[in-house]
Amino acid sequence: MSYLMGIDVGTTGTRAVIIHPNGSVKGAATEDHAPMRMPKPGWAEQSPEDWWRATIAAVRAALERAGIKGSSIGAIGLSGQMHGVTLLDKLNAVIRPAIIWCDQRTQKQCDWITSRVGAARLIQWVSNPALTGFSAPKLLWIRENEPQLYERAAHALLPKDFVRFKLTGEFATDVSDASGTLLLNVTKRCWSTEVMDKLQIDRKLMPPVFESVAATGQVTSETAVLTGLRAGTPVVAGAGDQAASAVGNGIVSTGLISSTLGTSGVIFAYTDAPRTDPHGRVHTFCHAVPNKWHVMGVTQGAGLSLRWFREQFGECEAGYARRVSLDPYEVMIREADGIPPGSGGVLFLPYLMGERTPHLDALARGMWFGLTAGHTRGHLLRSILEGVAFSLRDSVEILKGLKIPVRQVRASGGGSRSSLWRQIQADIYGEELVTLRESEGSAYGAAMLAGVGSKVYSTVEEAAKRTVKVSERITPIAENVERYNELYSVYRRLYPAVRSLSHELANMNN
Ligand code: XUL
Repeated sequence: MSYLMGIDVGTTGTRAVIIHPNGSVKGAATEDHAPMRMPKPGWAEQSPEDWWRATIAAVRAALERAGIKGSSIGAIGLSGQMHGVTLLDKLNAVIRPAIIWCDQRTQKQCDWITSRVGAARLIQWVSNPALTGFSAPKLLWIRENEPQLYERAAHALLPKDFVRFKLTGEFATDVSDASGTLLLNVTKRCWSTEVMDKLQIDRKLMPPVFESVAATGQVTSETAVLTGLRAGTPVVAGAGDQAASAVGNGIVSTGLISSTLGTSGVIFAYTDAPRTDPHGRVHTFCHAVPNKWHVMGVTQGAGLSLRWFREQFGECEAGYARRVSLDPYEVMIREADGIPPGSGGVLFLPYLMGERTPHLDALARGMWFGLTAGHTRGHLLRSILEGVAFSLRDSVEILKGLKIPVRQVRASGGGSRSSLWRQIQADIYGEELVTLRESEGSAYGAAMLAGVGSKVYSTVEEAAKRTVKVSERITPIAENVERYNELYSVYRRLYPAVRSLSHELANMNN
């Protein structure tokens, strides 16, 4: 029996998932990464070698949990956090820590790109504006600030593509992940030589780009020994974590939207053709479905906001959780659940790592607004869950404004395991939310792509039909929808009202 494996190189850890072709999960394991380093406000770095260590551990543990040998894996698909830059020298050694997706240091480089290429031409050539999180501005930051390191660079790789290199010895990427570099012609699905030439980025730095289901190499014998996989197992191109997760959620036809609560939060919509927002507030990227596209809006600090609360203030929840053998997040969610919708009038802006949709603003900063002495930790916790959902509603509203149909919203990501956070999302979007039988997200989608690449399924659509099943429907509660509509009208005006103060303060502290 041949199973399929998906490996997702996430932000907090790497997850390996093994699925049966009928979609059931045979075994899965996550290995945490070392915490990301934030040497300055808004900076974020990780060690690529740590991703590889975590991949080896996760693959071994998943095989063990599934109770199968590596020889039972028919094909592997990769997925990963997008936009990060890993530089390798000509001997393939890592040159510096990877600058990852949520790093915000590159506003100056973004302004330079926009003036050099032209805002309209950027949209024409790469379908997106220059944003601080994207890869090209990061490359330029290294070129400007660490020229001796940039000079040594022979390869620039996205996170999952570094892991691919370690697994197979091959340099390759896929169209969905490459879309987030600002160097891909998203319409034609190939590198934009126009933009690379304008920015004087050597074309040889970037790996060949493939459709997500294409084969890109095989597990080497050296890696086979390290991981327990079979040497020669095919590895398909895979996808950026959002496109892979969308495949795992069956977002492969018009009208289906997913709402993913991971470290970041993402509203993702399938489109038959590239659709661009004239203001660039949502991204237009290639989908992992060959010759299809997607539009997505991103909240930088979704799960990240809750994690921040837990790490900075969650000592008492963690202590209680230890005593009663619960997960600290469960204790936090219970506290939030004791508070009525609206958090007693406290609003939380989750802009702890700047914000993308809708503000496109690296200097946006988070805040609690409306505090009184009557508020408790429970109010603050609930306001985080609500603030993240309000921020995602900004993306839903933009999609509706672009006339992208929203027929069904599918909940996904670690945050959506909380029934409270799911209900809050349904109430704030005013839309029915559904959950799926398997909520494995990106790694699951990557395994499905491996199945298409190895002909277990004929197309990604067929893979979705065979594996993705709706399990629960969450209906919006009318009175909550009304309350949240009122609050959203304040929420959406809050950041624009303080934007200039936020910039002044951020600049003082940079
Ligand atoms: C997508 C994005 C995040 C990262 C980390 O544009 O930046 O989703 O991929 O998950």
